[in-house]
Amino acid sequence: MENSIQKNSLEKKKVIILGGSTGLGLATAKAAAAEGAYITIVSSNKSRIESAIMQLPAGSEGFTIDLRNEQEIKTFFERTGNFDHLVYTAGENLHIGKITQTDLEKARQFFNIRYWGALAAVKYSAALINKGGSITLTSGVAGLRPGSGWGLGASICGAMDAFSRAMAVELAPLRINTVSPGIVRTNLWDNLPEQERNNLYTKTAEALLVGRIGEAEQIAETYIYLMKQQFGTGQSVVVDGGAVLI
Ligand SMILES: NC(=O)c1ccc[n+]([C@@H]2O[C@H](COP(=O)([O-])OP(=O)(O)OC[C@H]3O[C@@H](n4cnc5c(N)ncnc54)[C@H](OP(=O)(O)O)[C@@H]3O)[C@@H](O)[C@H]2O)c1
Repeated sequence: MENSIQKNSLEKKKVIILGGSTGLGLATAKAAAAEGAYITIVSSNKSRIESAIMQLPAGSEGFTIDLRNEQEIKTFFERTGNFDHLVYTAGENLHIGKITQTDLEKARQFFNIRYWGALAAVKYSAALINKGGSITLTSGVAGLRPGSGWGLGASICGAMDAFSRAMAVELAPLRINTVSPGIVRTNLWDNLPEQERNNLYTKTAEALLVGRIGEAEQIAETYIYLMKQQFGTGQSVVVDGGAVLI
């Protein structure tokens, strides 16, 4: 009897990573390349793209696009042709602060890259993704376990998880999932003064069940899993060192 379950390798698959110049995106690019995938990375900063491309196998491609701009996203996907997996990890330093001190106009802007950019990427790429392919978006554990001051971050994470579930229904059989990380050591925190950043890492590590904060390579494994697995869709996979339980 024929076995219809096929091993889904990333070998020779085309993977596009929006937000791939640093952090979770670059770590995922490296991990996918190590599995034999052809990589395209996108971010807004030319020199960071160039530096990332140097760390990826020859033949990897990089493009500079502002993911706040719908037209740039549309034009990018008009040129890519068909591909296999989309990963969206773009995001800028986040505003953390109490609701009473929140500037609403600035708060709205924080949805532009993480939420509206991801929505536009799904809008313009879904029809280009080959059978068996996937979309993996990014949220964060703040959506499930917000600390005080995380109203904005938690809202964006919750929106991403809900959007992913809705797209899994609407675009089926294309699989769409999110990765929901806890605190991970990346450029995302480089707006904090060094001492404050180190305090955040140390205090978080002490509190977490696993006793350490996340590294980008550990979270990359989850994006790789979500690309390769063939049965889960509309799910948010939490990789947070146990943050949601403390
Ligand atoms: N690190 C954490 O602790 C953590 C926890 C939970 C969730 N997350 C989420 O994970 C995602 C990835 O974060 P990360 O930790 O990997 O941070 P990161 O290292 O700062 O990576 C962010 C990526 O987004 C790109 N980007 C920023 N603005 C852009 C724009 N306007 N257009 C195109 N690309 C843009 C950056 O590249 P350029 O600067 O070159 O444009 C970079 O490639 C974010 O959505 C973040 O909220 C992170």
